[in-house]
Amino acid sequence: MKAFRTYHLLFVLAVLVAYFTAEGMAITHAWAGYLVAAFLALRGLLGLLKASGFAWTRLMPLGSSALTHALTLALFLCIAGVTATGIVMDKGVSLSSTPTFQISREDRDESEGRGRTFGTGERHERESAVNAVHEALGNILLPLAIVHVIYLLLFRLDMARFMLFVPRKALR
Ligand code: HEM
Ligand code: HEM
Repeated sequence: MKAFRTYHLLFVLAVLVAYFTAEGMAITHAWAGYLVAAFLALRGLLGLLKASGFAWTRLMPLGSSALTHALTLALFLCIAGVTATGIVMDKGVSLSSTPTFQISREDRDESEGRGRTFGTGERHERESAVNAVHEALGNILLPLAIVHVIYLLLFRLDMARFMLFVPRKALR
């Protein structure tokens, strides 16, 4: 079970770095985003292997913890969506050693500015739609994360403490 807590801690750190570098720090943003993708892939694999703590039932809104799980699932899907759309926009470019990400980002801004008169219209429209989804999901991420944390602290304090490596209260 310690594995899941460690996973959660490192994963959350990567998500927060990606979130807070979204404006301006393009390379850091992209690398942190790919790190989040790696964590999600690892989580998927461990889920498939039925590793302890990584069962998918954790994300299923069923039974007595339906609300906790529904909130966690929404947050999980939001993070998966923002990561996937980010990768679709970048297509692995930032992973190469040359900092082309910055250039491609500036190019995109410029072509957007010129509207549909520039470039192959359809492609740009599709890209800006992906971009819009990326930004929208990115923007609801923080409120969802805050709700996740506040809900757990208010209604599942023991679980929240456990997740933060604070020993559980002794069972009566
Ligand atoms: C957890 C992961 C991620 C989060 C939370 C996130 C969040 C965000 C947010 C909030 C914005 C909007 C910034 C603004 O308003 O200017 C943004 C923009 C952007 N993100 Fe991400 N992102 C993530 C992953 C990625 C990944 C993996 C990539 C690609 C490698 C990526 C590429 C971009 C690009 C290119 C933009 C700028 C779009 C533009 O202004 O044209 N992101 N991201
Ligand atoms: C004080 C801070 C936090 C506490 C105490 C906490 C606690 C927890 C707990 C107890 C779970 C398991 C919930 C369940 O089994 O239903 C969980 C899962 C999760 N948390 Fe947090 N969390 C915190 C911060 C965050 C933040 C800031 C994020 C995202 C930015 C986040 C994202 C997630 C995700 C995506 C899951 C689902 C993981 C999975 O099953 O793959 N958490 N958290």
